[in-house]
Amino acid sequence: MDAIVKFTNQSQGKDRLFRATQYACALSIYLLRNDAEKKDLVAKLKTLESNMSAGRKLLRLGNTANSIEAAKRTMQLSDRVLCLCLTAANINRALYFICDNVLWAKSVGLIRDIDKERWSLNASRCYFYSLVMNLTRDVYEVLQLMIQRGRDEHFKEKMEQNLNQSPEVAEVIIPQMDAFVFLLIETLKSHPAVALDTVKNICDLFIPLDKLGIYKSNAGVVGFCGLISSLIGIVTLAQPNLRIKP
Ligand SMILES: *[C@@H]1O[C@H](CO)[C@@H](O)[C@H](O)[C@H]1NC(C)=O
Repeated sequence: MDAIVKFTNQSQGKDRLFRATQYACALSIYLLRNDAEKKDLVAKLKTLESNMSAGRKLLRLGNTANSIEAAKRTMQLSDRVLCLCLTAANINRALYFICDNVLWAKSVGLIRDIDKERWSLNASRCYFYSLVMNLTRDVYEVLQLMIQRGRDEHFKEKMEQNLNQSPEVAEVIIPQMDAFVFLLIETLKSHPAVALDTVKNICDLFIPLDKLGIYKSNAGVVGFCGLISSLIGIVTLAQPNLRIKP
């Protein structure tokens, strides 16, 4: 078990690179779709995209164990909300990887009698729940940081000044709204790890929303959001201080 967890941790960098490539291909294919001259290129990109997707499925084989370990850890958190959100997110993530592994086994012919569509839908559903729990955690964290900031006398003065100074803000009808937006932006600016995690989760959300038919976007939006989220994933892997904790 330990060895599996260690190995999948090591292959995370590779997975993120493959993921960025996969979504960059998807976005390029979408942008070039009407260009008759680029037909050959699009065909090559499609092959590359499906190779990346298949390669990632192989790298993800140990991720179920990894998510269960993570769930065990987050169950110990003393903050009730964080404990609930992160444990639920990790359990759903583990379930997602089980579906993903079954789909991999089917694709290489290890098992035959399964309904691919159904497993694929279940995978998307678990992924979606995991993301929703992660986003709930982000919102909770942002609100807590905002409350902390709002209580800070020093910051209050700065906010008063700012709201009185800028004329475009003074025109707005709801002053509370301005204060809220100002506080939100200042909070996100001073906590880039939380901001990045929130953007990443929002970008990721478009992928299952589209697959499950809850919110149909198009291949371009999915490719773009997937690429942004993968790039954030690479940045946070390279710069651990930009990674949200726990
Ligand atoms: C949810 O957050 C955890 C911890 O930050 C992360 O490991 C996991 O990959 C996230 N889930 C999804 C589906 O992105």
